[in-house]
Amino acid sequence: MKDRLREKLRDFSQIPPLPESVNSVLVAIRDPRVSAKDITEMIAHDVSMSSKLLKVVNSAYYGYRGKITSVTHAIVILGFNTVKNLILGLSMYSLLEKLKSTPEFDVKSFWVHCVGVACASKVIALEMGRKDKEELFTYGLMHDIGKLAMLALAPDLFLSLVRESKQRGIPFYQIEIEREVLPHTSIGYDLFVYWKMPEELIEVVGYHHDQDLIARKDNVRWVYWADQLIRTMGIGDGGDGNVITLDLEGVMGTEWERIKEKVSQELEKAQVFIEFLRGM
Ligand SMILES: [Fe+2]
Ligand SMILES: [Fe+2]
Repeated sequence: MKDRLREKLRDFSQIPPLPESVNSVLVAIRDPRVSAKDITEMIAHDVSMSSKLLKVVNSAYYGYRGKITSVTHAIVILGFNTVKNLILGLSMYSLLEKLKSTPEFDVKSFWVHCVGVACASKVIALEMGRKDKEELFTYGLMHDIGKLAMLALAPDLFLSLVRESKQRGIPFYQIEIEREVLPHTSIGYDLFVYWKMPEELIEVVGYHHDQDLIARKDNVRWVYWADQLIRTMGIGDGGDGNVITLDLEGVMGTEWERIKEKVSQELEKAQVFIEFLRGM
């Protein structure tokens, strides 16, 4: 029984694949032989991708309201790295769009959790003096992708874990351990290896509940803190009624309230990411 479930949770052919265009852009970005100009053209040719991209870059998030008119322009102004991260983030929609909410698990509240963790990861990275803060936004946005994959592959199992963790007030990952099921971190890790996502992103997805990696790796630790911060702020629903397992004042000291304030401001600007889900 358990083996069959494990197989099911690894059968990624059952997950809606990344749209072909997203996939080829992601592959091209990693290929040093493909020029920035070629990639720009690939994005520009995909109407759905380029319109989403232009919507984000013209939103309050970047502050260029209505001034960026083309993909080339976006890359010139924001840089290639930022645009790459945006495309990675937008690739999540292909999975989200296919999933349905149930009384115990609301896909939109979960997405709000993800956008919240993205903002908090970025703020924390900035506080720590990290320059590539956009990367942290993407890592935060996608940290719990394994939960969505689990919902897509084994909905009964996923919803029963959600129900139990909410009823007992115990974090989702602890219920996974108790029930000895393949955890969302492993599923997310395997899925992102399968989708050939960047290594650092895979690491965050796979280890954001692993205390050893949390202690050793900045990215993993910041996303873990961000997850806890967003829960404390009561933003969205991570699938377990936002149980908190870390004393944030203990790790952030007196800076804690100021950081919370910054996260709220960042989230305000990032509304465009949440709005994508409206009209679904
Ligand atoms: Fe998680
Ligand atoms: Fe989370």
